[in-house]
Amino acid sequence: MVPSPKAPAVLILAAGQGKRMKSPLPKVLHRVAGEPLLFPILRKIRRALPDASVGLVVGHGRDLVQATIQEQSEFSKLGIEFIFQSEQKGTGHAARCALDSNWGKALLKNGQALIVLPGDTPLVSEDLLRKLASPLGKNSALRLLTCEFPDPTGYGRVVRKGKTVTRIAEEKDASPRERQIREVAVSIYVFHSSFLQAALSQISNRNAQGEFYLTDAISCAVKKKKHVETLKWMNPEDLLGINDPWELSQVSKILNLRGLEDWGRRGVYFLDPDSTWVDGGVLFEGNAVIHPQVILRGKTVIGNEAELGPGVVLENVQVGESAIIETGTVAERAQIGAGAQVGPYARLRPEAVVGPEAKIGNFVELKKSRIGARTKIAHLSYVGDAEIGNDVNIGCGFITCNFDGRIIEGQRKHKTWIEDDVFVGSDCQTVAPVRIRKGAYIASGSTITEDVEADSLAIARARQVNKTGYARKLLSKNL
Ligand code: UD1
Ligand code: CA
Repeated sequence: MVPSPKAPAVLILAAGQGKRMKSPLPKVLHRVAGEPLLFPILRKIRRALPDASVGLVVGHGRDLVQATIQEQSEFSKLGIEFIFQSEQKGTGHAARCALDSNWGKALLKNGQALIVLPGDTPLVSEDLLRKLASPLGKNSALRLLTCEFPDPTGYGRVVRKGKTVTRIAEEKDASPRERQIREVAVSIYVFHSSFLQAALSQISNRNAQGEFYLTDAISCAVKKKKHVETLKWMNPEDLLGINDPWELSQVSKILNLRGLEDWGRRGVYFLDPDSTWVDGGVLFEGNAVIHPQVILRGKTVIGNEAELGPGVVLENVQVGESAIIETGTVAERAQIGAGAQVGPYARLRPEAVVGPEAKIGNFVELKKSRIGARTKIAHLSYVGDAEIGNDVNIGCGFITCNFDGRIIEGQRKHKTWIEDDVFVGSDCQTVAPVRIRKGAYIASGSTITEDVEADSLAIARARQVNKTGYARKLLSKNL
């Protein structure tokens, strides 16, 4: 998107590999609270600075980074401009690639300010972004965000002479004395684009890492006797970067907890927020009770008044109003109707649809099956590729035998239809394809291989034979 002259543009630096992550995945795609760590940053930019033009410097794994973001429709409005940094020669070099691109040229032409953010700091707040976007002073070259960190290890230290900032000393270049400084730079700045262009042509890579440091733009401004504004942020948590897996865990935990607090203030009761994980894309429609160790992933939606028991794991699941999901239930790409009861220990695989007020009990597995309203499958059953009507009662230990080992016309599995009001006794199997019509009654222990007419009784088991006195005879043989 062509930068609009009014608002500052935003540049995110995300080309680095993240060597300290010890993983082939580009650092910015590692997941925090369930989603790639660039997503929360982009979402906050979209909310706080909806008019900003956004440039994203990509390099390591750029196709994957670009595709991951483009797949996400919520970011398409941002019209993100991808800027390629082919070799990662440092943050200063990344900024230079941005200014050299057509996007950067338009920015320079408009005389626009540029907010720079690192791609590895997903806790930045909307409030912070809005504050950054306020216009730079007339004589200022840039605004530098700083913060006091209790443990500043790894961050660039803000070196001041009196009150004036003179330079940023990177951890690896800092003197022992400078390392004592707890005020750090966090790769967040606002630049006059023309100043940035001039500064970047002057910085060198003569430092401990042999990189072009964007932080050197500060000493450049000092040399040019330009004013450096500083904005000191009081909440270090907002600025925690992710450089290794341990920092990923810490930030993930904070991000998750912030999300839970948000829902908690709007009516969702988490019995144990510390053990509960809710992805950024999850939606609660009203109040709900969530027991410990629940994990909600993807685009899961939880209806008003629903209750999720301990250890429930749901991914892309819709849970209807007042539904109760009991302990240890695992579901993926499934729907659970209003007032339904599922679990404990049920497994709903993709395309399982549980009707309103239905009851799916312990150790029941559903796959690609529609279960009607008020139908009960209460114990130890497998139902796959089935359409089950309303008010059906299925006894314990039922199996839809849906696979005969062959693949016919690309279809591997056969279907089972059980119509409304059918009663299936315990320990039955249906060998698909097969249809049991409305109101039929299947006697316990039956293996149903043929269709059953409406309101009929089907018994498909060997007839019982009782032999009087034979038990004693058997025992006396002493076999
Ligand atoms: C950087 C800052 C440091 C600050 C810290 C906090 C510099 C020289 N140092 O150090 O002062 O305290 O961030 O966040 O700027 N990147 C590129 N291209 C590159 C190199 C990096 O796009 O060639 C991106 C990375 O993907 C990352 C961001 O820039 O998102 C910061 O890079 P990183 O290597 O994490 O810098 P730090 O060592 O943390
Ligand atoms: Ca970093």
